[in-house]
Amino acid sequence: MDSPTIPIKAIVSLFCSCMLLSHITTLSPALALEDCEFPAIFNFGDSNSDTGAYASFLPLPPPYGETYFHMPVGRFSDGRLIIDFLAGGGFSPFYLNIQYMQFLQLKSISQLIRHQGGIFASLMPKESNFSKALYTFDIGQNDLAEGFSDNLTVQQVNASVPDIISGFSANIKKIYDLGARSFWIHNTGPIGCLPTILANFPAQKDEAGCAKSYNEVAQHFNQKLKEATVQLRKDLPLAAITYVDVYSVKYSLFKEPQKYGFELPLVACCGYGGKYNYNSSSSCGGTARVNGSQIFVGSCKDPSVRVNWDGTHYTEAAAKFISDKISTGAFSDPPLAFKQACHKSTWPNN
Ligand SMILES: *[C@@H]1O[C@H](CO)[C@@H](O)[C@H](O)[C@H]1NC(C)=O
Ligand SMILES: *[C@@H]1O[C@H](CO)[C@@H](O)[C@H](O)[C@H]1NC(C)=O
Ligand SMILES: *[C@@H]1O[C@H](CO)[C@@H](O)[C@H](O)[C@H]1NC(C)=O
Ligand SMILES: *[C@@H]1O[C@H](CO)[C@@H](O)[C@H](O)[C@H]1NC(C)=O
Ligand SMILES: *[C@@H]1O[C@H](CO)[C@@H](O)[C@H](O)[C@H]1NC(C)=O
Repeated sequence: MDSPTIPIKAIVSLFCSCMLLSHITTLSPALALEDCEFPAIFNFGDSNSDTGAYASFLPLPPPYGETYFHMPVGRFSDGRLIIDFLAGGGFSPFYLNIQYMQFLQLKSISQLIRHQGGIFASLMPKESNFSKALYTFDIGQNDLAEGFSDNLTVQQVNASVPDIISGFSANIKKIYDLGARSFWIHNTGPIGCLPTILANFPAQKDEAGCAKSYNEVAQHFNQKLKEATVQLRKDLPLAAITYVDVYSVKYSLFKEPQKYGFELPLVACCGYGGKYNYNSSSSCGGTARVNGSQIFVGSCKDPSVRVNWDGTHYTEAAAKFISDKISTGAFSDPPLAFKQACHKSTWPNN
């Protein structure tokens, strides 16, 4: 019988170089790690990532939701949000938005129902699902914007950053104490590029036309947030904490919109009035008085090429762009892809 014509040694070395190659290609930008099996995603955040909390309090009028849902669904956008794209299919949307107190209730109520049995028991998350779940956070923009709308100065809002961050760290610790282990934390976006800031506050502009000092506050916030994640990794030894630089991705949409197929990034798609198509007294879905008659404030012609939806929130198109960029791990520290965010970093400094 003929024996194999390729010597075993050659096979081994071929195999090894393949392994090496695949290692190199998967190392950049994400690390060569297995995907995590998250049974659920719990999203904590403000209205930029809110997939439902506001729906129960404040029904949003059309044209909110028009692009994807063809009706208002309680999302502050024309369609899906970053978290919707990141989560993709396969995750229960029920868990996609949640705040700490609601989470505490959900967790205790669902465990109670599970233990009591009955028809709803099987629908409730198992205790182990809470620890295997991914906890995503998208904070900052609302905290900072609230300060500015209360007429605080840039310096005053800037000075409030440490308090916001320590509140955030305290929440992360509480959620960790409830069993959470994998955290995916978005930093805050360039708030000075939002029509609501640009239209309301005079400020020196940067090369992209954004309000410079307002973005500096966001950058200061992000610096402190990053420091907080470094400290949290020390304080919470079992946690995998990924810090995601969403600011840079969002800013690229303002700096080079054409490069990515967008236009008029500083102008609200759904709004009315002025250079930024934004005036809080005639907001998206409301009415404006024009030459003595009332007009409906609706969407621009093509939201799919626009960045800003209503003066504050991003469009579905922008959310898709952002989620495509950040899901790979290229903007993560440590450099983990969204699906790998259960892996604890063994890096020095992390
Ligand atoms: C809990 O996780 C298991 C797999 O780990 C999954 O089959 C089940 O659907 C999850 N339950 C809920 C309610 O999320
Ligand atoms: C902020 O200042 C504007 C203009 O001076 C005023 O109309 C508005 O009521 C003030 N807002 C608050 C919350 O104080
Ligand atoms: C914000 O505060 C930090 C720390 O005090 C300071 O370094 C930074 O210059 C401030 N930024 C603005 C825009 O005031
Ligand atoms: C916003 O609209 C109101 C009412 O039409 C108008 O009085 C005001 O001047 C507008 N503000 C700006 C900044 O254009
Ligand atoms: C309002 O009236 C002015 C002056 O007559 C006109 O130039 C402008 O186009 C009108 N605006 C709208 C939206 O009809």
